[in-house]
Amino acid sequence: MTQLHALILAAGKGTRMVSNRAKVLHPVCGTPMVSLVYRAIAGLEPEQTFVVVGQDAERVQAAMNGLPVRFVTQTEQLGTGHAVMAVAEAISGLQGDIVVVFGDAPRVTTETLKKLVEHHRRSRAALTLLTTTMSDPFGYGRILRTADGRIRGIIEEKDASEEQRKITEVNPGFYCFQIPPLIASLKKLTNRNAQREYYITDLIEIEYDQGYCVETVAHDNFEELRGINSRRELAEMSALLRREKNLELMASGVTLMDPDRTYIDLDVSVEKDVTIYPMVILEGKTRIGEGSVIHSGARVVDSSIGPEVTVLNSCLITDSDVGKGTTTGPHAHLRNHARIGENCRIGNFVEIKKSTLGDGTKAAHLAYLGDAQIGNNVNVGAGVITCNYDGKHKHVTIIEDDAFIGTDSQLIAPVRIGQGAYVAAGSSITEDVPPYALAIGRGRQVNKIDWVKHRKETGSKE
Ligand code: UD1
Ligand code: CA
Repeated sequence: MTQLHALILAAGKGTRMVSNRAKVLHPVCGTPMVSLVYRAIAGLEPEQTFVVVGQDAERVQAAMNGLPVRFVTQTEQLGTGHAVMAVAEAISGLQGDIVVVFGDAPRVTTETLKKLVEHHRRSRAALTLLTTTMSDPFGYGRILRTADGRIRGIIEEKDASEEQRKITEVNPGFYCFQIPPLIASLKKLTNRNAQREYYITDLIEIEYDQGYCVETVAHDNFEELRGINSRRELAEMSALLRREKNLELMASGVTLMDPDRTYIDLDVSVEKDVTIYPMVILEGKTRIGEGSVIHSGARVVDSSIGPEVTVLNSCLITDSDVGKGTTTGPHAHLRNHARIGENCRIGNFVEIKKSTLGDGTKAAHLAYLGDAQIGNNVNVGAGVITCNYDGKHKHVTIIEDDAFIGTDSQLIAPVRIGQGAYVAAGSSITEDVPPYALAIGRGRQVNKIDWVKHRKETGSKE
């Protein structure tokens, strides 16, 4: 069985993106382009996958951290052919074929790459590439054919003549090479062209001229093979993938009130009978459980929302879990491992950070709960604040089951409120409260009888 290897070119800067970040790191519906390309490649189950990195190499490697790939550095970015030259040494001992793709064409599918490899092997070609036809081929390498229709080369936009620019059959940038002839052909690459770059596309003419069998596979759907070179193309590709994702979700039983105004990352999962209002953003590895309703303006990032949850308008939920039947918002902020139990009520302008709340607990208005461990059926009144930070360290507040924290109280951590205890409204709690006790931590009220009348009569301010 012939071995199959893979190579992703991801070293370029992507000048047309006008970015400090490598082009291949720009996300499409939440996933960096290069990771999407990797997924398509991984479906081929190659023996080894090489990734050429250069610009922004550390961040590209970090984005692919944990994947079974081998990074090779292209120190200077002197063109796509030069990027392949950078791996020549690493692959020189290998037998079989290598699929070479660009890291900036994120929509390609494994199925299409399989078609490429299968044709390559069936025809015993030294080199096979996909071609496609575009009504506006601007920017793409044009396919040059002999009179009898065989591919003999590719001419880049910048090197092409007026006549050649009219060719609509283009090179989308997906190749399968037999490794030994590739190694030999790389030595023949030059940078004698308009951009003074080493072009991978020159390998076609080099191999053709040497009498190798060079094959093409025509692919109808050029949208799938599009490369991204600018922010505009990034936005267009994102819109396409987003639409596909939303159609998939609707087919699986999710109601999207306005799919054109719902922003769901590719890796988000949404169970059936969920209803999503317009202008909702679901990012990262978020999961939404069956029957939940997510209202407008909510943004949920890397969080797990249980079944039958209601997320009211304008909630921001990051890195958190929300249990079954709970309601959040409007305008709630859950972050940094907020773990909310079942049937809780997290109301208006409540912020919860790095805290756990048991089942049936309520914090319905204007509270800040940080570094708190809160039991079941606790009632947190309006305006309650855990004072978790002393300027240097964070401290924990513990509130046991069934406790009742009166409105506008401050719980000065570290502090523990015992099971079933009451805290009187407006208290500043600095000491632990025993179970079932009532704690009152506020100044006593004094009523000065007829004080107002007195002041009016005498003009005194006392
Ligand atoms: C390339 C092709 C063109 C094709 C088009 C398809 C060449 C010379 N041209 O042009 O025929 O129609 O793609 O989208 O190959 N890269 C490196 N190192 C480098 C330069 C680039 O790793 O030194 C990587 C980039 O990160 C990118 C990919 O190669 O992922 C393609 O480079 P790009 O500059 O976008 O090539 P195009 O001009 O689009
Ligand atoms: Ca490109």
